[in-house]
Amino acid sequence: MSFDLVFFGGTGDLTWRKLMPALFQAFRHGKLPAGGRILAVARDEMSDERYREWLKERFREVDGSKRPNDEEFEKFAALLHYRRMDLSQPEHYQRLKEWLGERAADTVVLYLATSPHLFTQICEQLGAAGLNEKRVRVVLEKPLGHDLASAQEINRVVRSVFAEEQAFRIDHYLGKPSVQNLMALRFGNALFEPLWRRESIANIQITLAEGLGVGTRGAFYDGTGALRDMIQNHALQLLTMIAMEPPSTHDADAIRDEKLKVLRSLKPFTPESVARDVIRGQYRAGSNDGQAVPGYLDEGKVPADSHCETFVALRTEVQNWRWAGVPFYLRTGKRLAARDAQIVINFRQVPHPIFPGANQANRLVIKLQPEDGLELQLLAHKGGADNEALTPVSLDLDFDKAFAANRVGAYERLLLDAIAGRLNLFVRSDEQEQAWRWVEPILDAWKQDSTGPRPYSAGSWGPAAASALVARDGFAWAEEQ
Ligand code: BG6
Repeated sequence: MSFDLVFFGGTGDLTWRKLMPALFQAFRHGKLPAGGRILAVARDEMSDERYREWLKERFREVDGSKRPNDEEFEKFAALLHYRRMDLSQPEHYQRLKEWLGERAADTVVLYLATSPHLFTQICEQLGAAGLNEKRVRVVLEKPLGHDLASAQEINRVVRSVFAEEQAFRIDHYLGKPSVQNLMALRFGNALFEPLWRRESIANIQITLAEGLGVGTRGAFYDGTGALRDMIQNHALQLLTMIAMEPPSTHDADAIRDEKLKVLRSLKPFTPESVARDVIRGQYRAGSNDGQAVPGYLDEGKVPADSHCETFVALRTEVQNWRWAGVPFYLRTGKRLAARDAQIVINFRQVPHPIFPGANQANRLVIKLQPEDGLELQLLAHKGGADNEALTPVSLDLDFDKAFAANRVGAYERLLLDAIAGRLNLFVRSDEQEQAWRWVEPILDAWKQDSTGPRPYSAGSWGPAAASALVARDGFAWAEEQ
């Protein structure tokens, strides 16, 4: 199957930091279909040769094991092309069309790795140039809008040019191997499904914690914040995968229909419940890996009086028969104690404890980062006649070790899926809009609240109020148990 892959924003950070290294991995592993061409387009004037040299330089900054050696780069570079393009100029789209028309590739993937404010303009121009034929797919990077109205406007334009099955909205968390494992765990094993409900589960915690601060992204981040950057998309997508009903098939729409139902069942926020159930924080100076680090307000391009949240913890419920009354806690933040992304399923305690000591319960931890794995906590007897109290022990599965040879990074997986036309791991417009609909009352309530986010020290687990939010229900975050 031949393909042409075009990166709009071909010299941007996303392209050289994530997309090109992911493509290179696919190429190195022999997974990139043969007969492909990769075209980067951007504002600068450059020859193909100059672009390849530029990218080679950038690759030096890529994580060691993912970096090509000279010979590998030469082979990969043979697929790379570059064209200058002013995205406001219709004739530049005609030139792109001519380039694509040089041959009839089976698939054309147009990846919009530009600033999202250009999405509508690019799509309109693509439509006007007739670059929306059936073999064309458009990939849209987040953030898709900054609220419901802007997301709807982007979707309206995308839909006016492309059919829904041509639109690939990326949420790179869906490409992480642990998310595939989550589907496999739930729908490939008969063991868990009977327990996957309110009768057996006490609460669910989704934590997406980062040790890093905003770094050089201060200008972008300050207009965004943790709620838009991580909760509206990544955390909610994980929640839908945890809470969805079993889809009737593995088809993209069967899965996405079920995910949409979960989003529609989320308890809506009111100003009162935002004040009670949503905690926002902002990091102050502290330490990361033993190094002193500045507070958010001292990061580059951040206004000194910014109220932008770098941390969010919230409590919600999925209002349906399966989940009624089960709290779902979502938490994300920059400059937290560790880089740690995981989903914790806390099961209920046994109804009638017969062993002495604290009455603990089973816990299933789905680990996304830094390792990709699964840990099932059981209660066991240590042996010996003198102590009957039970001890927690773990059944630990490290997917990276178990399946080392087959590990595929999130962007690699998603790029290959876009080329192959598999939509399962991409977000449909109605899901994305429903997620905005749900977070919008939080944004509105914060606009009215002049107190701003609560401070927390870099290197901590966020404001104390986040612990109190969970403690109120008689529970604790996993690291506090
Ligand atoms: C991105 C956010 O979507 O996800 C970043 O914009 C964040 O702020 C990143 O750092 C986290 O992704 P990962 O895969 O490193 O956990």
